[in-house]
Formats: sequence, structure tokens, C-alpha cells
Amino acid sequence: MNNGKSRVSVFENAYLTIESLFFGYFGFFLINSLSMAILDGRALAKAIRQELADQVSVLAAEQKRSPHLAAVLVGDDPASQAYVRNKVRSCEKVGFQSTLIRKPGTISQAELMAIVQQLNADDSIDGFIVQLPLPKHLDDTEITLAIDPAKDVDGFHPVNIGRMAQGLPCYIPATPLGIMEMLKRYNIDTQGKEVVVVGRSNIVGTPMSILLSRKGNPGNATVTMCHSRTQDLAAHVRRADIVVAAIGRPAFITADMIKPGAVVIDVGINRVDAPETDKGYKLIGDVDYKVIAPQARWITPVPGGVGQLTVVSLLMNTLRAYRKEVYP
Ligand code: GUN
Repeated sequence: MNNGKSRVSVFENAYLTIESLFFGYFGFFLINSLSMAILDGRALAKAIRQELADQVSVLAAEQKRSPHLAAVLVGDDPASQAYVRNKVRSCEKVGFQSTLIRKPGTISQAELMAIVQQLNADDSIDGFIVQLPLPKHLDDTEITLAIDPAKDVDGFHPVNIGRMAQGLPCYIPATPLGIMEMLKRYNIDTQGKEVVVVGRSNIVGTPMSILLSRKGNPGNATVTMCHSRTQDLAAHVRRADIVVAAIGRPAFITADMIKPGAVVIDVGINRVDAPETDKGYKLIGDVDYKVIAPQARWITPVPGGVGQLTVVSLLMNTLRAYRKEVYP
């Protein structure tokens, strides 16, 4: 799946884009052009989708069925609908099977638990997710605990989180898995580096802090996790060789917090008003990109960075579930 070809081409693309931009038009920015490059999530996601589609072709040639992901969507929250639609469409793109189970927001806890049990028992489904957040009257912890860890391709079950903490085979949540894949394929060295993770969510900040401090590559970093109660957060971030910003606040990380030459991973996708655009809004990250980019060594744009990798990571987990790699 991780073939050297796609790794090189994605790396070169990002570099050439930056180089030609600055070389061609602003010769005097030469030094910056050699030191800063974009981590191109869009190109990387495309390369990984191609790898997944290639795997499906191999399976088809062997007369085997393709991997099958199911998604449970409760209620009509527009953001959740869009996310799930994207997951189903991504399955189609790579040739995976998908099943969408839609239920009204009035479903009872017992009915939803019964659906989870059915999916656990259905051998034709390799992995499934229950889209969160659930309506307030439902207990999402009980639902997450009911999912068979072997089918928990979201990697949210405590068994998978615990296995991750101990360096055992597990499903890694999609966004952290995408970031790890990005670091690996761009050959970004994390060993012995100072990493500062900003944000301690179960889905991103906490898993990232575990994964980067674990033995492995990427990994072996010295990790500091900052959150809303951290004193002098800026001083911590300023020390970082690698910053992972996952706090959900637009442009929260400012230029004065970034050490020149740092690697900046921006996980934020914040919608802010922009009356000058057709949509009336734009998406910006947790990092003040325009001013930070010139002083970073590597940086992820928003959009086009980490967010592009989340759904393909879910598909990677689904393929692992199909192959029973984690729970043989
Ligand atoms: N809601 C927001 N992100 C996610 C995700 O990755 N998985 C699920 N199940 N729900 C989400």
C-alpha cells in the first residue's frame, strides 16, 4: 500500500509548486523557497485512494469480494449528513462496498443498540461507524462500548485506544492515522524531536500525543500536550520542532508562537464569515497560515491538508478489518 512511487511524487509536487512560485516570480525569496514546503493532503489522499483501488482490483482478479463499510446516521444534522455522504462516496471511488443505515432522530437507545448488535454479527460487513454526535437523548458512550473492537474502524472503542497506548495492533482514529501517514510519507523525522500537541480531544489531541511518544516511526518524540488550562501555552509551542494544532479555534496559533523551521500540522477546520466570497464563509485552520507559512519548514494548508486524509484513513482501516490484520 505504501509504495515509494507515490511518496516521491507527492513530495516533489509540493516542493516544485513552492519553488516555481518563488523562483519564477520573486527571486529574492530564494532562501525561503528552499526552506518551506507544503504538506499536500489532497495529493496524498489521491495517491492513497489509488493504492486502495489497486488493492480492490487485485481482490477482484482473485474472485474475492471487496471490503465493506457500514455507516449508521441518526437524525438530520446537516454536517453529519455531509460527512457520511463523503464516506459513502469515497467507498464508491475506490470500489469498496458501503451500506448506509439512516434512522430518525427519535430512535430509542435500545433500537440503536440492536442495530449495533446486528452489524457486529453480520459477516458481510467488515467494519462500521456510528456517526457522532448523536441526539442528546442517546448515550454515545454505551453505543461506542457496544461496537465489536474488531469492527471499530473509527478506533474509538477503549479496547482500541488501550491497545494503541500499549503499541499493540489496533485501529487508529482516522485523523491521527492520516497525520501519521503524512509524516511517514514525507519522511519527516520525529525521533527525539520536541512535539507540542495543542488540544486534548479523544479523537485527535490525545491519540496524537500517544502515537508520537510511542516507540516507532513516526514516534519516539518528546511530547507536550497543551489544553485550555495550560499556563503560558505560547511558551510551550515556541519550543516545538513539530506543532499539532487541534484546538478548534480559528488562527489561534500565531506567528510569534512558532520557532523558525518548525513543522506545523494544522488540524483545525473552522468556518468563518467571509461576505466577499460566494458562499459567504471560508474555512480556516487553527494556525494563522499566511504569516506562519514563510517561517515554517513544512506546513499543512487548510483546506487541502490534514482534512483530506481523514476519510481515506477510515478506508485504510476498513481494508485492515477486511484482512483481519488487527484481530486475526
Ligand atoms: N463525527 C465527527 N468525526 C467523526 C468520526 O471520525 N467518526 C464518527 N463516527 N463520528 C464523527
